[in-house]
Amino acid sequence: MPDHPTSQTQAMFQRALKVMPYGVTSNFRYWGADTPVVSRAQGAYVWDTDGNRYIDYRLSFGPVILGHADPRVNQAVADTLANGNLYAHTHPLEIEVAERLIRMCPGVDKVRFANSGTEATMHALRIARAHTGREKIVKFEGCYHGFQDYTLFSTSMTPGGSLGSRRSPLAAVNSSGIPSALRDLVISLVYNDIDLLDRVVRARWHEIAAIIVEPIAGNMASLMPVPGFLEHIRKLCDEYGIVMIVDEVKTGFRIARGGATEFFGVKGDLMTYAKSLANGFPLAAIGGSDAVMGTIEPGRVAVGGTYCGNAVGAAAARATLDILAETDALAQIHARGTRLMQGLGEVLTEAGLEHEITGQPAMFGITLEPQERPVRDYRNTLASNGDLYEKIILAMRPRGVEVEPDWREPFFLCAALSDADVDATLNAANDAIKEVKGG
Ligand SMILES: Cc1ncc(COP(=O)(O)O)c(C=O)c1O
Repeated sequence: MPDHPTSQTQAMFQRALKVMPYGVTSNFRYWGADTPVVSRAQGAYVWDTDGNRYIDYRLSFGPVILGHADPRVNQAVADTLANGNLYAHTHPLEIEVAERLIRMCPGVDKVRFANSGTEATMHALRIARAHTGREKIVKFEGCYHGFQDYTLFSTSMTPGGSLGSRRSPLAAVNSSGIPSALRDLVISLVYNDIDLLDRVVRARWHEIAAIIVEPIAGNMASLMPVPGFLEHIRKLCDEYGIVMIVDEVKTGFRIARGGATEFFGVKGDLMTYAKSLANGFPLAAIGGSDAVMGTIEPGRVAVGGTYCGNAVGAAAARATLDILAETDALAQIHARGTRLMQGLGEVLTEAGLEHEITGQPAMFGITLEPQERPVRDYRNTLASNGDLYEKIILAMRPRGVEVEPDWREPFFLCAALSDADVDATLNAANDAIKEVKGG
């Protein structure tokens, strides 16, 4: 077992427990008694308060596309700070970011900025309802669209028993505190089930304002859409005047410069962006067609917020988008991710562990010992060995590699990751699996 001191981190977490519920600022960060406390990050690495360094594949759940503390992005932020951060007026940086976003992202004619993915999806749903005059939304099991009340149903937090049958799935609420009336506004369907989608939408289209989808299911092991799934959503939305919302919060500026929309060639009427847009600084965006974005109207259709379009986020986004547009950062991520996916597949095969690796090199997931194959929806992923996955991932941590222990969350890669880091990760995985199997 490698040397891995933890006393400082444990002491720090005890302090956190005294002042913050569960010692964390987001429920997803709680790992029980061994919840990490991290004091700095640079490039592809994070360091905990004991000074242990980890190759970081969580990347703060995805935003850090270039690497932590990227000097070019930091400089852009530092340069803007002297001019203040919030003006409650339109400012040139915002305009520049909107122009870049429109150039990079197919289907985006107009942009409104927000601060987080949650805000972006919340606003997108309101715009869709205002545009159609309808109230219900279709979402897919296992897809997560943020902490707002309207979509916190049948996400990857849902136990299998609450989902109902495949033929008539239930919208299962994921938190106390969400008004029960909202459940009536959510139609939850099975990801990748084109027949079910077709049947339900053709029967109920007159109630449906929007179909919201993760184009690659970054909250359920990065499952890919089956051929025709996104295309069929597009077709039904066109036929019935429903707003298609492609939630690019994880895929945007990561899977391709123009996100999954560019990668698959299927445009939504609205797209939501956050995460990689600003390399970890808080900026999000709702982008879409002139027709649907034109629904926003002062005094009539409310979209905004005090911090929306803040200069720090906008400066970070301008620098990030320029780097993504002008360098081969995404190609490098793709190359290293391809090696890592293949290498992990070999390590697992050698260890005799059944597995399926899903997603794209920049964002991929591993399902261990799947009982239902191919793994293409949330129900399939639940029929796998998440406990074994967690044990292996936690055994990699003392070996200097940090991956999210929850199997639903993918490996995220950044441009700062080196080939040597990939090699070190494969060695750590190999050793961790031996330790777990041996124990
Ligand atoms: C697809 C998707 N949409 C929305 C969100 C919410 O974003 P945020 O955490 O910035 O509110 C997330 C967060 O992980 C996400 O993965």
